[in-house]
Amino acid sequence: IFPDYLAALDLSLVGKARAAGILDLRVHDLRDWTTDRHRTVDDTPFGGGAGMVMRPDVWGRAIDDVAGLTTGTADGGGAGAVHLVVPTPSGETFTQRTAEALATEEHLVVACGRYEGIDARVAEHYRSAGMRVSELSIGDYVLNGGEVAALVMVEAVGRLLPGVVGNPESLVEESHGAAGLLEYPVYTKPPAWDDLEVPDVLLSGHHARIHRWRRDQALRRTAARRPDMVRALAVDALDRHDLEVLAEAGWTVVDGRLDRAAHGAP
Ligand code: ADE
Repeated sequence: IFPDYLAALDLSLVGKARAAGILDLRVHDLRDWTTDRHRTVDDTPFGGGAGMVMRPDVWGRAIDDVAGLTTGTADGGGAGAVHLVVPTPSGETFTQRTAEALATEEHLVVACGRYEGIDARVAEHYRSAGMRVSELSIGDYVLNGGEVAALVMVEAVGRLLPGVVGNPESLVEESHGAAGLLEYPVYTKPPAWDDLEVPDVLLSGHHARIHRWRRDQALRRTAARRPDMVRALAVDALDRHDLEVLAEAGWTVVDGRLDRAAHGAP
């Protein structure tokens, strides 16, 4: 119900991808599918409680149309040709893996709810009809509606489409990539700024040493900021040096898994 929120999708890389025809993105106003004079999209919750719930009939007409089910086009494949994404704080967590999976889809429909959310029968109905339906949260906090979450998802998914990010190599080493580590710190000119110097090794031209330094930094940063990511590391993918860096940061291998080293007596 707030299509203007999505105006940002005209900008930057996503905007360019749209202009270049890599991404066909359309924004709709749910109220176009209302039938009453007040263009009502919500009503009070059955069972009582605070807030309003979005009506399934209005959403059903909107999704049928946008997914091409009414005209029978649906990219030729009916409900199965479409993946319905519903941003909601009660969804599964949207991660880089989710973005990668969604980037392989031909047609995504994102249903941005407001208020207390969308009547639960909408997701149920489209799942029964054979549509892939993902209820996804962008993090453990509550927004006023799904629009900002939709912006996040469209940007994260859109930049994975071939041709959107100018240099695909910049997708390789970044945070939340396959290595399971946060990205190392980066530096550019000038080499000295306000008494702060760029680490010598980066100016050395010695590629193997630079590679090792960056990996150490990624390990240290991940250990300091994201213990959940350290615990998820596959120990056999780490070399002896990796394990030394992690040990300095307080992590050791216990029963084949990384764990924070115990300090002092048990
Ligand atoms: N709508 C409201 N909060 C949200 C969140 N954290 N993620 C996705 N959609 C939302």
